[in-house]
Amino acid sequence: MINHYNTLFGGMAMLLMDEVAFITATRFSRRRMVTVSSDKVDFNRSIAAGALVELVGVVTQVGHTSLKVRVDIFVEQMYSSGREKAATGAFSLVAIDENKNPTPVL
Ligand SMILES: CC(C)(COP(=O)(O)OP(=O)(O)OC[C@H]1O[C@@H](n2cnc3c(N)ncnc32)[C@H](O)[C@@H]1OP(=O)(O)O)[C@@H](O)C(=O)NCCC(=O)NCCS
Repeated sequence: MINHYNTLFGGMAMLLMDEVAFITATRFSRRRMVTVSSDKVDFNRSIAAGALVELVGVVTQVGHTSLKVRVDIFVEQMYSSGREKAATGAFSLVAIDENKNPTPVL
């Protein structure tokens, strides 16, 4: 999970963000969801090994068969207070039926 700077590998951060986007979309729609696009991912701060992270997903837009989720990663140190946003990304997910065709989100 860690790169040669001893901070979280960016690809791992994106994996975690995609998982949270999926969970957020699924909890919102209670349908089978797949990721169709990642719109943008910004890395604002590095995440040192041993830090605590919290990922928060929010549905920001609802279409017919698709929706958008923003995922923020917050970082905090284990033995001091304070919390900072380390990364943010936007993902589009599509609801699919049992034949894997798009189906209404709601
Ligand atoms: C998701 C999938 C079923 C959509 O099929 P499709 O034939 O492109 O579907 P449509 O063109 O009818 O579009 C369906 C919806 O997706 C949206 N969409 C399609 N491509 C998109 C893209 N690149 N970015 C954002 N939204 C997109 C459309 O706008 C539409 O939204 P709406 O109904 O809310 O208006 C198909 O692309 C697929 O199976 N992709 C692979 C998914 C996958 O394996 N993900 C990784 C693992 S989860």
